[in-house]
Amino acid sequence: MKIKKADLEKVAVHREQYPEEDLFEFAFAGRSNVGKSSFINAMLNRKKLAKTSSTPGKTRTINFYRVNDDLRLVDLPGYGYAKVSKVEKNSWSKIINEYLENRENLLEVILLVDIRHEPTAQDLQMFEYLMAKGYSGIVVATKADKISKGHYEKHINIIAKKLKIKNKDMIIPFSSENKEMVDEMWEIFEDIVRY
Ligand code: GTP
Ligand code: MG
Repeated sequence: MKIKKADLEKVAVHREQYPEEDLFEFAFAGRSNVGKSSFINAMLNRKKLAKTSSTPGKTRTINFYRVNDDLRLVDLPGYGYAKVSKVEKNSWSKIINEYLENRENLLEVILLVDIRHEPTAQDLQMFEYLMAKGYSGIVVATKADKISKGHYEKHINIIAKKLKIKNKDMIIPFSSENKEMVDEMWEIFEDIVRY
């Protein structure tokens, strides 16, 4: 997809603050630091639109990016960051759940996992939740530039096993560094919109 226009339309914590349900939304879930905000930048061909950090816990709000006045990409706070208090963890998971449970125009939620690591119990829980909600089960395996292509299969197998994914084509190696798979991801999104 050609990105003609992309901007941060809204930063929200609670439901009342979300933008209108007038455009389809694609949301991205995953552990802190897995590369959700970087993924959105890569997809939008913008280096710094979504704030990223090498320290986990950067995105703490729900950030709605409006693309070509056509759809939104939605950056969610990460989960599983060990160094925050229990109270804070609970408040982040509440923010995420409130969004996932109350959004009519939410067309797809995609789980991001780091290609180098076995998904965590929390990843599995999120993935099972998304499958139960009827989403398609696409998993983006981030930071693919950190391993050689010859090792992709081995890592994809580990991810598939942990998340109990039968069709390994559902796991897409992705790199925000070298923009690997950006065009293919947009094709997948456009297919979902059309369907
Ligand atoms: P939270 O907002 O804390 O939930 O994290 P996030 O999932 O949004 O991660 P973010 O995009 O901020 O990226 C975390 C770190 O990983 C940053 O230092 C990024 O530069 C780095 N990173 C993200 N994607 C890639 C990638 O594809 N390749 C490499 N090499 N580094 C990446
Ligand atoms: Mg982020």
